[in-house]
Amino acid sequence: MFKIVSLPGDGIGPEVVAGAIRVINALADKHRLEISIDEHPFGGASYDLHGDMLTEETLEACKNCDAVLLGAVGGPKWENLPHDKKPEAALLRLRKELELFANFRPAKVYDALVNASSLKADILSGTDFMVIRELTGGIYFGQPRGYDDNRGWNTMVYEHHEVERIARLAFDAAMKRKKKLVSIDKANVLESSQFWRNIVHEVHKDFPEVELTDMYVDNAAMQIVRDPKQFDVIVTKNLFGDILSDISGMITGSLGMLPSASIGTTHAMYEPIHGSAPDIAGQNKANPIATIASVAMMFEHTFCMKNIADDIYQAIEQTLASGLRTADIAQPGDRVVSTTEITDAIVANLQAS
Ligand code: IPM
Ligand code: MG
Repeated sequence: MFKIVSLPGDGIGPEVVAGAIRVINALADKHRLEISIDEHPFGGASYDLHGDMLTEETLEACKNCDAVLLGAVGGPKWENLPHDKKPEAALLRLRKELELFANFRPAKVYDALVNASSLKADILSGTDFMVIRELTGGIYFGQPRGYDDNRGWNTMVYEHHEVERIARLAFDAAMKRKKKLVSIDKANVLESSQFWRNIVHEVHKDFPEVELTDMYVDNAAMQIVRDPKQFDVIVTKNLFGDILSDISGMITGSLGMLPSASIGTTHAMYEPIHGSAPDIAGQNKANPIATIASVAMMFEHTFCMKNIADDIYQAIEQTLASGLRTADIAQPGDRVVSTTEITDAIVANLQAS
């Protein structure tokens, strides 16, 4: 019996999560799996109900399940709340409370979408790399932090064990792929980056088969758009990973396609990379593929059923190959369909596989 907690959240969150849940239920039927899904409010939706973006009840539910499925949080309605009450703060608290220190963001180009990116098809096709972002440390959480009338300040700080555990995980991931790891930092300027680099090299001694390269973050931003195929696994600090994973996202065409997995020692959370897109919320237009692909990552990492994960990716590919597109990935002349229609097609492909 697998226990999933779903946090649909705000904006298009509920629509894309509904699509993902249909996929989970179809798979549960097909493979006779017992999967329970409990929904809880989170983000603005929770604030409107309880005056709190992340209630103790939601947090407890997340701590007591096998996997959390998150839609998206935030929107103009809650933008002007004080800094520590914003939906983003609740998301950071959830990551920290669940100790989800590693964030996996795959950048893989679907053949059918190679023309949907702003980059040239020949530079893109065949791109397939994984950004592993440290998620519970660095400048996102460092103290002191704050601002007054004259100054604003944050602290970029890493503890030895924080760098060591993410480095280990990244080398492990590289071992399962092409054994090429690029560690991205800013060691020419930042002491905390020199520290990061030293530890990554220490851990490398335990993984001699992996080819390790260091890269400065500014150069990395350029290399990802210049020649994305050079990368296999990237490991980087929280802030750099935030930025680089959006760049990697765009080379693959649309943020609407990109899943993510946030993993700790005892908990895991799966969410699309995109935001809550309030401008199209409630219109049945959103692309559910990132959330459905996040379910694939859940089957692979939490349920250890890689074959089912592969089935999901294949159903997505078949659906795209059949020409269906949501508006965000449509080219002139494509058949634009709704969130529910593209989900119908993915579910039908899964049932037929
Ligand atoms: C992301 C987002 C978050 C982050 C925000 C919403 C707090 O941009 O997951 O990349 O900065 O980590
Ligand atoms: Mg981001």
